[in-house]
Amino acid sequence: MNLAGGAAYTLRPATSFLWRTTTADGIMYPLDRRADRRSFRPVHLDHNPQPHQDAKDMATTLRHSRILGVGAYLPPRVVTNDDMCTYMDTSDEWITKRSGIKERRWVELDVTTSDMSMWAAEEALKNAGVSKEELDMIVLATNSPDHENPATSCFLQRKMGIKNIPCWDVRQGCCAFVFGLSMADNYIRTGMCNKILLIGADLFSKSMEAFDHIREMAVLFADGAGAVVLGACDGEVGFEDPHVFSTHLHTDGEGAQELWCKAPGQCYPGPRISHEAIDRLEHLPQMNGSAVFLHAVQRMPEAVHEALDHNNLKPSDIDLFIFHQANLRINEMVTKVLGVPLERVHHTIQKFGNTTAATIPLGLWDAVQAGKLEPGMLVAIAAFGSGFAWASSILRW
Ligand code: UT7
Repeated sequence: MNLAGGAAYTLRPATSFLWRTTTADGIMYPLDRRADRRSFRPVHLDHNPQPHQDAKDMATTLRHSRILGVGAYLPPRVVTNDDMCTYMDTSDEWITKRSGIKERRWVELDVTTSDMSMWAAEEALKNAGVSKEELDMIVLATNSPDHENPATSCFLQRKMGIKNIPCWDVRQGCCAFVFGLSMADNYIRTGMCNKILLIGADLFSKSMEAFDHIREMAVLFADGAGAVVLGACDGEVGFEDPHVFSTHLHTDGEGAQELWCKAPGQCYPGPRISHEAIDRLEHLPQMNGSAVFLHAVQRMPEAVHEALDHNNLKPSDIDLFIFHQANLRINEMVTKVLGVPLERVHHTIQKFGNTTAATIPLGLWDAVQAGKLEPGMLVAIAAFGSGFAWASSILRW
């Protein structure tokens, strides 16, 4: 599914062009002042117009979003592989060889997902030069809610002292941030919002008393948060201008129980959580590691190719790839399949582990810190995770 899919480039990407939409049918025509217009083909927009808008309104209000600033929160507590050996029967050698991870970050016990989200959001707002009063919406991508109900974004909103704007959680595993990016981009494209705060945050370490039962997952997953502020682009947007080109989302529920957490839930004939369910460890996440691995190495390159094809780009046109950080081996295989040089892929898993919904914004943030991501660069993003879900995006930074 191509969301926010207005931009299917039909020219060489180095060519600068503008977007122009027809008025009645919602078809978008790219327009290049320098090129032969006969080389363009119309591109049908496949998003769903808001109920109060007809196609003509859409054509006049459609615009683009861009990332205005990025922020992160990484807990100061560094937990090495040797430290992990004090919680379970494992070794630095096993973890490094299987995943590439050397260390990860864990919160102190009084820190919550909404706390981490708030700290990442504050940095993103500062870097974007946007005040919290300017925000129209908050989207929090997380799988580690502070409470089962209401959404963690409500607690985040309260902590940040923001009132009367919609906020919601996106709970789509490791793809939650890219799903959130798609939602935020579309709300801006359709003119319903101008500035949106989008956070990816996850917190895994609080199950540590049970780590011996879930060794495979315990060594991979970690804590962290990353945030971006998205804003509407001013005026017409060309290929060289910073903006989100497109987002592409997929889900296949056949894989729902390959990486999941059964309890608490309404699936039980009795109470949604019980001592018996806890005794059966159903409150702990479970993963069929090899099944997830096999799907990930297939779906991630597919997702990247979908985004590239949609924008008429080649892997070599991309300046930087930011992949979900589940396992260094997965990403090395994806990199090989795509045929891109290693230096164009930014990894954080060695030092941050798998922070689930936070890996993509943390990757963007860390690449900026490392001087690897600079304004004007073309970025490809791809993720795969529970659901199964997989997603990609291309954007100009
Ligand atoms: O972010 C969401 C998406 N998640 C992923 O993409 C994760 C995908 N899966 C993976 O990354 C890999 O499957 C793992 C890193 C989880 C596991 O790597 P593997 O190469 O598939 O492991 P394996 O099958 O070769 O090793 C399993 C063995 C088992 O022992 P036996 O039965 O072979 O004797 C486990 O009991 O390794 C054992 N094991 C451990 N040993 C030491 C499992 N966890 C650990 C551990 N330390 N932490």
